[in-house]
Amino acid sequence: LSRTEHTARSSEETIALGRDIAARLGPPVIVALRGELGSGKTTLAKGIISGLGAAREEDVTSPTFTLVHVYRNPLNGLRVHHADLYRVSDFHDLETLGLEDVFDQPGVLIVEWAEKLTLRSDWPVLDVELAYAGDAARRIAVQHLPAFASRP
Ligand SMILES: Nc1ncnc2c1ncn2[C@@H]1O[C@H](COP(=O)(O)OP(=O)(O)OP(=O)(O)O)[C@@H](O)[C@H]1O
Ligand SMILES: [Mg+2]
Repeated sequence: LSRTEHTARSSEETIALGRDIAARLGPPVIVALRGELGSGKTTLAKGIISGLGAAREEDVTSPTFTLVHVYRNPLNGLRVHHADLYRVSDFHDLETLGLEDVFDQPGVLIVEWAEKLTLRSDWPVLDVELAYAGDAARRIAVQHLPAFASRP
């Protein structure tokens, strides 16, 4: 397992880190974002999704109400799902999210509040933990993990 820790001193630095992460991401992968309210999960996702060429930075918005946004890189067809599970309360909710087709083809699934993700998948997981580190600073730890619980 490899783990890297970063300090981002502004939103721009967090977006830049997201772009760096994107440059090293290969599908299929789940990017599991954990960290309290306002810690920068959506900001990091902006960097990742724009870095993957699936949307312009300003077109990546928080999936707070719709729960899942889907983007696609027009050049290579890479599909990116961006989900926010904050309002999801149980497994039943998860099933109705609109994530049923995620695993149909290898892509990138970015999940905010990933601790609530109970879907089983054998996709590898990039685990990212964000924490406040002063006014506009965030500590961001990135860790490669084995796949989620393997299939029964
Ligand atoms: N270094 C930083 N990185 C990211 N965001 C920062 C940073 N410094 C300040 N901010 C501010 O913190 C907020 C982060 O909001 P963001 O929506 O990215 O967080 P979030 O973790 O997705 O929140 P939520 O849990 O509500 O989904 C923004 O208002 C942003 O401008
Ligand atoms: Mg968010």
